[in-house]
Amino acid sequence: MYLVFLLSRLFLILATVFAGTPSIVHPANGTSINPGETFDFFYNSIADYGVSSYNYTVWLFTSPPTFPFVQVENFAFGYYFGRFAEPNYPGNPNPPNPPPAQLTMPNFATMEKGFGNGASAHNVTCFLTVLEEYATGNGSVGYRMSLSSNHISYNNTAV
Ligand SMILES: *[C@@H]1O[C@H](CO)[C@@H](O)[C@H](O)[C@H]1NC(C)=O
Ligand SMILES: *[C@@H]1O[C@H](CO)[C@@H](O)[C@H](O)[C@H]1NC(C)=O
Ligand SMILES: *[C@@H]1O[C@H](CO)[C@@H](O)[C@H](O)[C@H]1NC(C)=O
Ligand SMILES: *[C@@H]1O[C@H](CO)[C@@H](O)[C@H](O)[C@H]1NC(C)=O
Ligand SMILES: *[C@@H]1O[C@H](CO)[C@@H](O)[C@H](O)[C@H]1NC(C)=O
Repeated sequence: MYLVFLLSRLFLILATVFAGTPSIVHPANGTSINPGETFDFFYNSIADYGVSSYNYTVWLFTSPPTFPFVQVENFAFGYYFGRFAEPNYPGNPNPPNPPPAQLTMPNFATMEKGFGNGASAHNVTCFLTVLEEYATGNGSVGYRMSLSSNHISYNNTAV
């Protein structure tokens, strides 16, 4: 148990050293998350010397986020976890919306409201996805956006 703790600390330290490469550290690829379960969330921002990061949004999709933006009624299935920001100087030193250490997986079987209806699912591969807004000294019309995605398993009760 202690070894696991040490290893996860070491991983966090390594992750800090490599800050600047946007990546989702937690939940790691392959993590099983059940409905209603609270899970660790840790995202490595792209913020670095010469790179300012503003906000990032966290999504869950049931298909890999490789589709193009098109106008269509069923664009994706998923969930929006929120909009957060990592403190970084001088771009966004004191954001009002720091990321929580943990997020909670909704129960999609009981999410229905009004005419809407949820659905139960077992062992579904989902994609926890972060879209980060940032900018560099090289001018851009609007923010640059990076996309990171880890695959997880929703309601894999057997693991
Ligand atoms: C980040 O998002 C928050 C909440 O939506 C907003 O209040 C804030 O102005 C945004 N900050 C930047 C730098 O875009
Ligand atoms: C989770 O999986 C179990 C086993 O397949 C199933 O009985 C249950 O309905 C599922 N729960 C949800 C919320 O989808
Ligand atoms: C800015 O653009 C130049 C030329 O394309 C490139 O060499 C440099 O790496 C870019 N710098 C940043 C911070 O994106
Ligand atoms: C996690 O999986 C995604 C694809 O879902 C892949 O692009 C990414 O490189 C993987 N990350 C690691 C740390 O292996
Ligand atoms: C879950 O799905 C994966 C990939 O589809 C499969 O390899 C694995 O055996 C499944 N696990 C369970 C518990 O159904």
